[in-house]
Amino acid sequence: MNAPFSLPIVGTTQPKIIDPALDLVEEIQKLKKARNAVVLAHYYQDSDVQDVADFIGDSLQLSQEAQRTTADVICFAGVHFMAETAKILNPERIVVVPDMEAGCSLADGCPADKFAAWKARYPGAVVVSYINCSADVKALSDYIVTSSNAEKIVRQIPADKTILFAPDKNLGRFIAKQVGREMVLWQGSCIVHETFSARKLMGLKLRHPDAGVLAHPECEDNVLAMADYIGSTTGILKHAVASPKNEFIVVTEVGILHQMQKAAPTKTFIPAPPEASCACNECPHMKRNSLEKVYFALRDLEPRLEMSAELIALAKRPIERMLALS
Ligand code: 13P
Ligand code: SF4
Repeated sequence: MNAPFSLPIVGTTQPKIIDPALDLVEEIQKLKKARNAVVLAHYYQDSDVQDVADFIGDSLQLSQEAQRTTADVICFAGVHFMAETAKILNPERIVVVPDMEAGCSLADGCPADKFAAWKARYPGAVVVSYINCSADVKALSDYIVTSSNAEKIVRQIPADKTILFAPDKNLGRFIAKQVGREMVLWQGSCIVHETFSARKLMGLKLRHPDAGVLAHPECEDNVLAMADYIGSTTGILKHAVASPKNEFIVVTEVGILHQMQKAAPTKTFIPAPPEASCACNECPHMKRNSLEKVYFALRDLEPRLEMSAELIALAKRPIERMLALS
């Protein structure tokens, strides 16, 4: 048998030793059973992580599934704010995150103290926050939304109210256009979606004139202007399956292609190019997770997400409002 070696596992306190002969998929399945655990994964996870998940979805579906689950342990293969949402909805359950340092540029770019100061400048305004924010920001918000329900929820806010929308300016601008109403926008953006290049997308469209362009609303305006469909990750997936078209340019994080190819194996999916010659269409935060880290999280029940009961209670209200209105 080969000697165990130490994997350079970024983001955990200590590198952990793993036996390379271990069948990780089998071990994960055994641990899930032994711990009565579920693995929830976002579409942006690596395909091997998606393949061991019990449920794969967009942010809204993952929150709904976290609310529904009866498992004792939730292993959240996504980013920190998503796992926090699962913990807020399930304070009594153990929530483990394969890599606790899997953040999000939107959440990181909206610190709660600055957000509170911004909010204080608009007394009486309704505060709508995209789910991609910290629990502290959620606690200061009236409604949480995701890209799949933002329009529906914003439409229900009385017309005489000023709306503050944070932290994604691109999603905010898109929703404001859809509902025909101005909103005050926090100036945050996603490091992945803002790198898609309208210029390169145009070139790709010219080479694939029959392809449908499917984009996430976190993209910039000039990119969204070229899209045939704009929606959440699940929206994009469903649209591609239902569409009579056979070829699509996909303008979101490239991890989604795994489920698109599985759901529609005869169709062609082309990842949209970022401006630079880089792998910037991969979310570096989502990609911190790996099969090895999922295994360790289930084996050791850590890194474990802990939050104060007070923060959970405050952050839960706008999330529950969202779930009730979705
Ligand atoms: P979805 O809600 O569409 O899954 O989006 C999550 C996300 O982080 C997009 O970058
Ligand atoms: Fe955050 Fe963007 Fe990564 Fe989504 S893709 S988790 S918005 S950094």
